Amino acid sequence: MSKTFYLTTPLYYVNDVPHVGHTYTTVIADAIVRYRRMCGDDVSFLTGTDEHGLKIERSARQQGIEPQELVDTYAGKFRSTWERLGLNFDEFIRTTQKRHYRAVAKLFRAVKKSGSVYLGQYQGNYCVSCEAYVAEGRNCPDCGRLTEFMTEDSYFFKLSAFQEKLLRFYRDNPDFVVPRARMNEVVRFVEGGLQDLSISRTSFRWGIPVPGDEKHIFYVWFDALTGYISGMGYGADDEKFEKWWPVDVHLIGKDILRFHAVYWPAFLMAAGLAPPKRILSHGWWTIEGEKMSKSKGNFVTADELSNVVRTDYFRYFLLREIPLGSDGNFSFDGLRTRVNSDLVNDLGNLAQRTLKMIRSYFGGVIPEAGESDEKGRELRKSCDETARLYQDRLGDLQINKAMEAVWELIGRVNKYLVVNEPWVLAKDPSRRTQLGSVLYHAAEALRVIAVMLGPIVPGGAAAVLRQLGIRRPLEDHRIPSMEWAGLESGSSIGRLSHIYPRLDKKEFRVKVKNRRAAGAASKKTSAAKAGGRDDARIDIKEFAKVRMQVARIVSAESIPKSTRLLKLKVDLGSEVRQVVAGIAGQYSPESLPGRLVVIVTNLKPAKLMGVESNGMIVAASDGGKPVLATFTEEVRLGSVLT
Ligand code: MSP
Repeated sequence: MSKTFYLTTPLYYVNDVPHVGHTYTTVIADAIVRYRRMCGDDVSFLTGTDEHGLKIERSARQQGIEPQELVDTYAGKFRSTWERLGLNFDEFIRTTQKRHYRAVAKLFRAVKKSGSVYLGQYQGNYCVSCEAYVAEGRNCPDCGRLTEFMTEDSYFFKLSAFQEKLLRFYRDNPDFVVPRARMNEVVRFVEGGLQDLSISRTSFRWGIPVPGDEKHIFYVWFDALTGYISGMGYGADDEKFEKWWPVDVHLIGKDILRFHAVYWPAFLMAAGLAPPKRILSHGWWTIEGEKMSKSKGNFVTADELSNVVRTDYFRYFLLREIPLGSDGNFSFDGLRTRVNSDLVNDLGNLAQRTLKMIRSYFGGVIPEAGESDEKGRELRKSCDETARLYQDRLGDLQINKAMEAVWELIGRVNKYLVVNEPWVLAKDPSRRTQLGSVLYHAAEALRVIAVMLGPIVPGGAAAVLRQLGIRRPLEDHRIPSMEWAGLESGSSIGRLSHIYPRLDKKEFRVKVKNRRAAGAASKKTSAAKAGGRDDARIDIKEFAKVRMQVARIVSAESIPKSTRLLKLKVDLGSEVRQVVAGIAGQYSPESLPGRLVVIVTNLKPAKLMGVESNGMIVAASDGGKPVLATFTEEVRLGSVLT
């Protein structure tokens, strides 16, 4: 019976389209999964989307749509992007699916039954963007944004009771987290003591209600982590769940390690379920040397990536450029250089010249292997050793090291051709057997290389096999049973063509520039369609409908229970009005009286947290942070902005 292998990516937040970071995680997962399949394992690859939480709820409200509509759009985008890029997942779990709701409720009941849950009160600074309370300080240590102070009733998970159990588990499974340095970080964190964990919220509605106390909504991490089991039958299909759980590898970025290596095993232990077998924590990509961010304009989406280069090219670059676990810098220039040197020159040229010589000297028929001479035996030994090394490294999830080994072999085969000079042998009819043997050895090594590259660059690997005349589909090759002499003498090679076209520096730069510009334009159009701020142009009459006037803030006070809103009285010269503004995170009430501001004065009145607002204060949104519009010169109160 074949071995089962279950691997997951994180469930992606649906507040944006897939970008290069998400693509990286999913490409690593896809490569590992393809490798396992080519080892003959029974594999399941789960990915999906994390769709609940305050941030989604707010984002939907801002756009004037229901949260469900928002998450449907983005979840669809993730799913279709992975499908288009050939990233072959088996399960796509969405945290808004019914099967997921059932599983979360079941896990909670099991955890509660074990005595690991109690009702308490939570107070703290909460980062809306990262959906997490912040241990200390006003700014989020992860994203740097200003946090909001919140107090709420909450169910707590007794994480503190799991310290010893977790430490014992880490001791018994020292490879639980790879790379090792990250395992050590986790151990140190747990040794430092664990605080109980708030697992429910009453401050927002967009989420899964706690069974039996529905005003509580599950904390997004309790909800999202459960996706790894809800997608595999937990709470619905015991046989399926038994088959796949515990998971073999959770693949995650280093930013979400604690949730996976501390909280998640503790939840599972409390519920009497086995913890994950392994967590692979990868590093982060910066773009052209900087953290990727929309405001910096260095945000690279999966669409842009795949529009600019073929899938093999970015798969290769992402997997080869950095060792798993390290951070790396993404640049289109770096991608082009790597692709040209490794795929086009090293691999492409080896395939091209070997196959061309078989076509020219043997009419496209694979020659006899003959007796291996010393150099031939060495090459064969190299192939066997590389295949072993490659399997050891991939088994250990070191993809980039496995690729290094394959590239060393490519180098050796290229050298083998140079040393044996088949083009010289071809001139001497008495050395035809030797010529045949040299080309057979090179072509056979090429076959072994192509099979090993199957999980990494499936497009090119399949093309090499086809051109070698091998009809069996790439996926049907079995890596562990790959033996020398798999190539059949006397068989015909396929039609030859370049495996990988070169990326010309100038042309490529233009293409990147154009695609990026096209991407930005289409983003604007879709924002316009969705009624976003980057709307299509309007005429002056439409603009004139909005009346904006100069006002001075007379007083400002907090609104009970709200961490975001302030109640302001503003003087418009002819009248004093009350407006409610969502600026409490950035402006203290004492700092506001006397400030000149701009008020939209012809909006219909609205009630916010039960307080009437008769107008809207104008502010720029700087990465989500409001900055009030003002005047630096004297101006009469009530003046209209035109
Ligand atoms: N929703 C949570 C995960 C819940 S899993 C139960 C989440 N989502 S995320 O969309 O923000 O991130 C998903 C993955 O993308 C993470 O593993 C994260 O590390 C990865 N990346 C996001 N940006 C990245 C880079 N710039 N570089 C590499 N990976 C990065 O976290």
